[in-house]
Amino acid sequence: MLLFTEVTNQYDKPMQEIISRREGDIQVLSFNRAAKMNALTRQMYAGLANALNEAAGDFGIRSVVLTCEGDHFTAGNDIADFMANPPTNQDSDVAKFLGSLLEFPKPLIAAVKGNAVGVGTTMLLHCDIVIASPTAKFSMPFASLGLVPEAGSSYLFPLLVGYQRAAKIFLTGESFDAKEAKEMGLVAEISNDPIQQAMSLAAHIATQPPTAMINTKALLKASKHDAVAAVMKAEFELFALALQSEEAMEAFMNFMSKKGKK
Ligand code: COA
Repeated sequence: MLLFTEVTNQYDKPMQEIISRREGDIQVLSFNRAAKMNALTRQMYAGLANALNEAAGDFGIRSVVLTCEGDHFTAGNDIADFMANPPTNQDSDVAKFLGSLLEFPKPLIAAVKGNAVGVGTTMLLHCDIVIASPTAKFSMPFASLGLVPEAGSSYLFPLLVGYQRAAKIFLTGESFDAKEAKEMGLVAEISNDPIQQAMSLAAHIATQPPTAMINTKALLKASKHDAVAAVMKAEFELFALALQSEEAMEAFMNFMSKKGKK
């Protein structure tokens, strides 16, 4: 088992916030920061980017399953990390992760349960098959936080659901459930055991001809690839500026102060 992003917890024992384990031909990447609802830090993005790049180059790996430990997929970017270390350029760990996601050549299956906030939802737009639990909840509250959509979502999401519906979700910050996500086409299937279902699909895909899998995915993504890359770049520039804005600072301080009152 490979373990990434080793950090030290309060008892000074190492713990791994991205678990990367091989199950036969399948690489499973799992967010493992359940106490913080799997909010993603710079180190976690770096671990994910490395793991995806390694899986892309490893002939023995046929597909990747992206999932979580605990009850929630992810509460999005860690807000304290946003404040302390705002990503400012394409060399940032989050930009590298999103780039690896965009370029990942093999089938990528996500198993989602609980909350999928911010990048937790936008990364799904890059996955090939998303399986969600009936109680999964999706949201992209970027504008409510003084930010802008990222990961190509300002292009991919309207393409998926239509302009009006995308605008309503982005501008209000409202969440949507698994049933709505399936109806939109963001989710392929709802399952009471999304991880098991994702693993079983990945195992089936592993029995299929590997070059045909890669070529089929490339063809499915080809017509949008360059547009998505360009939008991601433009979003990133605005996002980096927005992170420094008073609107974002106020929203982050609100979140941090609510947390302090608990
Ligand atoms: N960044 C940092 N910490 C986060 C976090 C985030 N994005 N989301 C949750 N956490 C932490 C909380 O601070 C809390 O930690 P604590 O116990 O040390 O105080 C823990 O995770 C549990 O979260 P909590 O807010 O108590 O759970 P909840 O069930 O009341 O609310 C959410 C769940 C998802 C609605 C709420 O956590 C939330 O709004 N998180 C922020 C989501 C967000 O805006 N993400 C950024 C998108 S760009």
